[in-house]
Amino acid sequence: MQLTRSWYVVEHSSAVPAGSVRRLDFHGQAFAIWRALDGTLSVVSDRCPHKGASLSAGRVGEEGLACPYHGWCFQSDGHCAKIPAQDSAQAIPRRAQAFSLPCRESVGFIWIWWDPSAESSAEDLPPLPTVGPVPEDDDRGWRALEGSVEWNAHWLRVLEAFMDLTHAPFVHSGSFGAMAPDQLMPVEQWAKDDSVYERVLAPRDRHYRADQGRGLRAWFNQGDDQSSSVSSDDGGEQHIQLWLANVSLVRVVFGDFQISLLTAHVPVDGTKTRNLWRHFRSFLRSPLADSNARGRVDRFMAEDQGTVETLRPLIPDLDGHGDLLVASDVSTLALRRMLREKRDAGLFR
Ligand code: FES
Ligand SMILES: [Fe+2]
Repeated sequence: MQLTRSWYVVEHSSAVPAGSVRRLDFHGQAFAIWRALDGTLSVVSDRCPHKGASLSAGRVGEEGLACPYHGWCFQSDGHCAKIPAQDSAQAIPRRAQAFSLPCRESVGFIWIWWDPSAESSAEDLPPLPTVGPVPEDDDRGWRALEGSVEWNAHWLRVLEAFMDLTHAPFVHSGSFGAMAPDQLMPVEQWAKDDSVYERVLAPRDRHYRADQGRGLRAWFNQGDDQSSSVSSDDGGEQHIQLWLANVSLVRVVFGDFQISLLTAHVPVDGTKTRNLWRHFRSFLRSPLADSNARGRVDRFMAEDQGTVETLRPLIPDLDGHGDLLVASDVSTLALRRMLREKRDAGLFR
């Protein structure tokens, strides 16, 4: 099940440096993402129009992306500018064109506009979703890390899991989820403009059993430096937001001490989803704390993976017949309502 005519994040910007090409598996099709020497980014079908070789196995040079089979060279707009075996006086056929998808970059990610019917015209594509707040790359008040992990689950199940907080005390009982389930009902919740948001209070003392030496308080209070601890009666908040088609942002805020996890849930095919994550923390900004932070993200992602991969039906039934959703599933209900409206508008296939 694909949501069409929507922006999707498909890769970390950092994964495609200038002069490189890599394969993208997206909704069951193969593409090549490549960046010219001048930094221009392109996403094209991974099939050379000549004899169908894989362009993602090609090379990027002065003349663009060169196919590995006969060296046809494609420009950033997909147009073939050179057929090495032919005399340059011979015309290059108009159909010698790699099929290109509109792409953009924002918040450290590469985005594509997905419209398999190709009815959208490049000029009037809607703007990218305004995802955030996310620290700028050069903001010295934050430390950023990124990574990826692939799960055997449908992308909509994965997207929902990142907005499903009531699972935390059960799935994440061994990590950050040491909290009471009834404290996870949002104090604010809305759904509009292809986005779903909720805010949850996270009072530190009564509801976090962080004195067990785990959970968020343990994370915030680690280190000997008094200035890096937060007074124990400070309350915190979590802000969780999704943007269609496939981005989530979880922000945990205890005053100046903040952690954010921005994740894109890339539909590889109907049964696999690649999670591309970016972690930001406003404390313990030394690179020495990176391996600890990475270990924490890896651990709770693995906790989610273990459960989300077991969900059946594989694809959530938007009409609710497959699952039994109740009032505490408020954000899942809001997301499915939004997706039903997309389906009714003919945007699912
Ligand atoms: S198949 Fe690509 S150049 Fe021949
Ligand atoms: Fe989770």
